[in-house]
Amino acid sequence: MARKKIALVGAGNIGGTLALLAGLKQLGDVVMFDIVEGVPQGKSLDIAQSSPIEGFDAAFVGANDYAAIKGADVVIVTAGIPRKPGMSRDDLLGINGKVVSTVGKAIKKHCPKAFVIVITNPLDVMVWVMREESGLPAERVVGMAGVLDSARFRYFLAEALGVSVQDVTAFVMGGHGDTMVPLVRYSTMAGIPLPDLVKKGWISQEKLDAIVQRTRDGGAEIVGLLKTGSAFYAPAAAAIEMAESYLLDKKRVLPCAAQLNGEYGVTGLYVGVPVVIGAGGVERVVEIDLNKTEKALFDKSVSAVRGLIDEMRKIQRGVTK
Ligand code: LMR
Repeated sequence: MARKKIALVGAGNIGGTLALLAGLKQLGDVVMFDIVEGVPQGKSLDIAQSSPIEGFDAAFVGANDYAAIKGADVVIVTAGIPRKPGMSRDDLLGINGKVVSTVGKAIKKHCPKAFVIVITNPLDVMVWVMREESGLPAERVVGMAGVLDSARFRYFLAEALGVSVQDVTAFVMGGHGDTMVPLVRYSTMAGIPLPDLVKKGWISQEKLDAIVQRTRDGGAEIVGLLKTGSAFYAPAAAAIEMAESYLLDKKRVLPCAAQLNGEYGVTGLYVGVPVVIGAGGVERVVEIDLNKTEKALFDKSVSAVRGLIDEMRKIQRGVTK
């Protein structure tokens, strides 16, 4: 069987990590694209040279011409700039909106059959821009955020509970911003919901509240530490988990920014919800019951995404900034 082709648009820190993980997991041949000459070529060659040591077979090509992404099965988009300390993801709207618009047009031209995963921030709006510009069906355009936010939530919980991350499930819904909604009621250790663990004394309510807030601030915490960029290991791992589910038709249930068509009372927006990812792309949106408080938080997050899309539209029409 011919190897699949994975195109990585953006050869920065996340792009390089994505390429390495795609190789280690033998997901297919990798093309790294970037507008900066030499960088995608250098990173590709470097990773290819690690393949005899790691024992994987895959071709790695670096390119500065979009033609190189032709026929890709999966495209993962990290192009654009990361925020700096003190900035919000939303501050990147204008600049990254233009970049993602260009990438969307290139995908439409060179690989309209691809499954596209967007990582660029502000995520929920950038994935919406990608869908508009690429014209790809909504089930083949998704945003990577929920897997990352949920992984952070799981990690913090496992650390506090003193158990393996493998035995903690958790997920985060809503937009990938300050209004994201870590769902305590749907998070478990060995199947025991967190509220019961509080009752049993495994974790205090105060500690749990602090973890929920730390999860919301997870991206900013890393930006504050790195000072010159944002997180890249965990974001890359999250996107690769999504790509793998698509390429291997695993039908994983993963929280992703997916276009809603009436689910959760939302239409036409991309927002983080649990979805089934298989060979058909986003095969199903999983609707879970939200209580009054959770629904209010989710609605607030949806409003924030909607407001940002309105701003994006104004920028696109040249009305502001
Ligand atoms: C993250 O959550 O790590 C990314 O969205 C990057 C950022 O700016 O926080």
